Amino acid sequence: MTLRRAAITSVGRFLPEKVLSNQDLEVLVETSNDWIVGRTGIRERRIVEEGTGTSELAAAAAQEALDRRGISADDIDLIIVGTVTPDMMFPSTACLVQDKLGASRAWGFDLSAACCGFVYSLTVGSQFIMSGAHERVLVIGADVMSSIIDYRDRATCVIFGDGAGAVLLEAANGDEGLIGYQHKIEGHGGQYLYMPGGGSQHPASANTVEQKMHYVHQDGRQVFKYAVRRTYETTTSLLAREGFTPDDVSLLIAHQANMRILDATRDRLGLPEEKVVKNIHKFGNTTAATIPLALYDALEDRRLDKGDLILFSSVGAGFTAGASLFRWGGLRSSGE
Ligand SMILES: CC(C)(COP(=O)(O)OP(=O)(O)OC[C@H]1O[C@@H](n2cnc3c(N)ncnc32)[C@H](O)[C@@H]1OP(=O)(O)O)[C@@H](O)C(=O)NCCC(=O)NCCS
Repeated sequence: MTLRRAAITSVGRFLPEKVLSNQDLEVLVETSNDWIVGRTGIRERRIVEEGTGTSELAAAAAQEALDRRGISADDIDLIIVGTVTPDMMFPSTACLVQDKLGASRAWGFDLSAACCGFVYSLTVGSQFIMSGAHERVLVIGADVMSSIIDYRDRATCVIFGDGAGAVLLEAANGDEGLIGYQHKIEGHGGQYLYMPGGGSQHPASANTVEQKMHYVHQDGRQVFKYAVRRTYETTTSLLAREGFTPDDVSLLIAHQANMRILDATRDRLGLPEEKVVKNIHKFGNTTAATIPLALYDALEDRRLDKGDLILFSSVGAGFTAGASLFRWGGLRSSGE
């Protein structure tokens, strides 16, 4: 087997049309636009129509990535979907996406790492390109968080939104692509952010519904503290290991969980404002989708040039933490 680099060569996204604004939330729970903007930076988020499964968003985002690249679904070898809101327990969202796309040759699976779902999937997908086993891998981060949020709980309902982002991985032509990654899980953190109902320990029952076990439960303060500390530790140790300093980073594309977490990370890394992508004000925390959605926005805003060093980073339920470094090589269009 040959070892080669894995590069991101196309991107796609899907966002539901329906906007849930802070003003809409003021009607549902005791909160205010000022509190939400001041404590999180979020102004609005997108929400699906009831009954829309994550696979629908994921397939739409993937289709855009294929269209931009000018290839067909039959060219895909592997589909990985990072999600914590699969359409159902099984079959996997990846199977549903494969069917929706008509990706006749692909195999695939879901990867459960909450807000690290995309970063972990990117690393896993890259391995199949690097080993030479596959030529084209779709990596998707997609979540319908509105399906597991209690819109009577002000501590969680203001934060999350729905969305999907996808990237295509292919072999690098030059020195672009994945340079390195640093991932960690710390299961003791499970108690601070979780959804207990509907799994094997607490199968769905009238009692689990009554106990609100099918909703996100969160100790926001604990998650916040962990996120700030671990994001710094993960990113700095990755940079040092690969022989870089924060100064070398062209763009930090971090999980959009809270504007204050992004600002604290920027401060600690000593990065100027223009090197940090922020779109949390528009979409809230879309869990596995935030990073591909932020990459998409960075490209729309022409914030990436060939040769730039991108630092992806995320922290999420589990606890999970991860970061990866990519040398940007540009998107590829049809025929390239
Ligand atoms: C959730 C979060 C925004 C709360 O902000 P905070 O500054 O930590 O606020 P606290 O939870 O300490 O609560 C402060 C007060 O605001 C209140 N409050 C909580 N949510 C509120 C809301 N939506 N509107 C108004 N007040 C609210 C609390 O009840 C509390 O009131 P009290 O002091 O009278 O008890 C913040 O902790 C956070 O973002 N944590 C990380 C969450 C996250 O990223 N999750 C996803 C991980 S990937």
